[in-house]
Amino acid sequence: MLMEIADTLRTKLDPRKTLNSLKGDADPGNSSTGNGTGYDSENDSDPELHEERTGNSDTVKSSRNGKVPLIKLTDVWKVYQMGEVEFAALKGVDLEIYEGEFVVVLGPSGSGKSTLMNLLGCLDIPSHGTVSLNSRDISRMDESELAQIRGQMIGFIFQSFNLIPTLNTLENVTLPLEFQEEESSRARERAEYLLEIVGLSDKHHNLPSQLSGGQRQRVAIARSLAVDPPVLLADEPTGNLDSKTGNYILEFLDELHRKEGKTVIIVTHDMTPVKYATRVVHIKDGEIEKIDEVEGNFCKL
Ligand SMILES: Nc1ncnc2c1ncn2[C@@H]1O[C@H](COP(=O)(O)OP(=O)(O)OP(=O)(O)O)[C@@H](O)[C@H]1O
Ligand SMILES: [Mg+2]
Repeated sequence: MLMEIADTLRTKLDPRKTLNSLKGDADPGNSSTGNGTGYDSENDSDPELHEERTGNSDTVKSSRNGKVPLIKLTDVWKVYQMGEVEFAALKGVDLEIYEGEFVVVLGPSGSGKSTLMNLLGCLDIPSHGTVSLNSRDISRMDESELAQIRGQMIGFIFQSFNLIPTLNTLENVTLPLEFQEEESSRARERAEYLLEIVGLSDKHHNLPSQLSGGQRQRVAIARSLAVDPPVLLADEPTGNLDSKTGNYILEFLDELHRKEGKTVIIVTHDMTPVKYATRVVHIKDGEIEKIDEVEGNFCKL
């Protein structure tokens, strides 16, 4: 378990990146400095939707409105084997996530949301179909390369938080930076800064067990931001919270989307995040039922 958590946190800090517009906890004043996705934009001028597989290379390209998807799932199946029995948790999912989107994947319990999140975050591989990250088919990357790219691009906020129980708040947020051998005083400074942003400056020395559910969720968010990834993936971020704390978390993610240009993906059974979404993906029994485009919730970048 700890190794799995550790693996998702391995990444590299870009020390130039800050969250200036969020400093002061939900009362931003400054503008953003861009999102640093670094995605392949060679198709930017192409106005048409198209897909192209380049010969024998591992590059899968597709564009919509001249953009290349950050994450692209093509005919993705996830089949779990339980003894003699197979269970298809995802059945032929096609989904593209673009830079600057706020996507809410909405579906009932057991519909395949967490399974989908693990695939979107490249934490798992499909039984069939392809997942590409930054235009590269992840099945063609070795595990260390994948961990590196995933770590640079994606911050995870898990359904069960996945905080390390024996580390205090400050240490949990510092951990991803330590994996990158970030100089300890700088890592600590960054962690203190993020805990200030999520309103937990007075809880540095509390263990997860000494925090409320909402506070744990905020530590998980601070940790997901440690290396300033362009994409945030959150599994039921409001699932265990009262509505006030849940709304605080959602508004914070909304600020990250609108003011920092983060690409945010939430998987949930809860309707509340829908109002912040640019797209709502409805999932049921492992299949996408429909996708609703929402107007008006764009990021300012
Ligand atoms: N490792 C596994 N082995 C077998 N079946 C699994 C496994 N993981 C998930 N499933 C099954 O796949 C289906 C989808 O599970 P998943 O966790 O993705 O659902 P979910 O939509 O996230 O549900 P919830 O809202 O309750 O978190 C469920 O029926 C579940 O029982
Ligand atoms: Mg789930």
